[in-house]
Amino acid sequence: MKAKGGEYVWFDGKFVKWEEASVPVMTHALHYGTAVFEGIRGYAAKENVFVFRLKDHMERLHRSAGVYSFSINYSPNELSDATIELIRKNQMKESCYIRPLTFVGLHGIDLNVTRDSPTHTVIIIFPFAKYFKGDGIRACVSSWRRIHDSSTPPISKAAGNYLNSILATQESKRNGYDESILLDRSGNVSEASGENIFLVRKDKIYTPYTADSALEGITRDTAMTLAKEMGYEVVERPIPRTELYIADEIFLTGTAAEIVPVTSIDGHPVGNGKEGPVSRSIREMYGKVVSGDVKQYRNWLTAAW
Ligand SMILES: Cc1ncc(COP(=O)(O)O)c(C=O)c1O
Repeated sequence: MKAKGGEYVWFDGKFVKWEEASVPVMTHALHYGTAVFEGIRGYAAKENVFVFRLKDHMERLHRSAGVYSFSINYSPNELSDATIELIRKNQMKESCYIRPLTFVGLHGIDLNVTRDSPTHTVIIIFPFAKYFKGDGIRACVSSWRRIHDSSTPPISKAAGNYLNSILATQESKRNGYDESILLDRSGNVSEASGENIFLVRKDKIYTPYTADSALEGITRDTAMTLAKEMGYEVVERPIPRTELYIADEIFLTGTAAEIVPVTSIDGHPVGNGKEGPVSRSIREMYGKVVSGDVKQYRNWLTAAW
């Protein structure tokens, strides 16, 4: 993020001024990508800020760290409480993005990171609105393959994994697209550079297994839960690339992107080239849920004020 966010960040249990929150150049994570992180949204609604699935995100942070034996010195509950305190400390009353990050600190050039290696955790917040502009996005299939569990496991939301997403994003932007879809090692659809993917065919919803190199997305889980509740059949299965070209609808899910329709893929219009009815119904329901309008899902929200 280029611009300054909230005035304070939470840094290992203390509030530190944004400008003063810095790390030494020998920080291990700067050299080797030894960090895990989360992206969480706070939604301004009903004169409050509702943080969406806060504890689920902090629990995923812990799981991501566990893959690499990074210790986190704070429990998911402590990090959730710290997030709410940070929102208050910054007097944040608008919709915001919350970025918890755990990184390995001073550990020399030693690659043997263990539970005893020093780690630090920061939480940063800044105002945030829509991620993708417009009513739908133009996506392409990337020539880069998604990382695989046998090398750098996509199931862990690790900083280093994002080099793969960056290559795919750079390629898609150079070629004039909004977003890239990556295939897994065997050539099936995996996910977008920063979102999970869903297809709709004859009112049935399909999404790749997370074993097809996709992150265990919290918005993915939300969309599946809502879709099933709304009466749609949701099927997880391998999806060949070509199925993207014949789908009635495609949509992406992610904390930043929320639920966003893909209106063309590699230049092929998806359906009639506009958001389809199934995507719209799930997107609209998601909007109601995050704003606290659906009683049944209020337990996904943590009110900051
Ligand atoms: C690679 C990747 N896939 C999927 C997602 C969506 O995950 P979530 O819905 O938990 O934000 C993200 C965003 O964090 C991501 O970076």
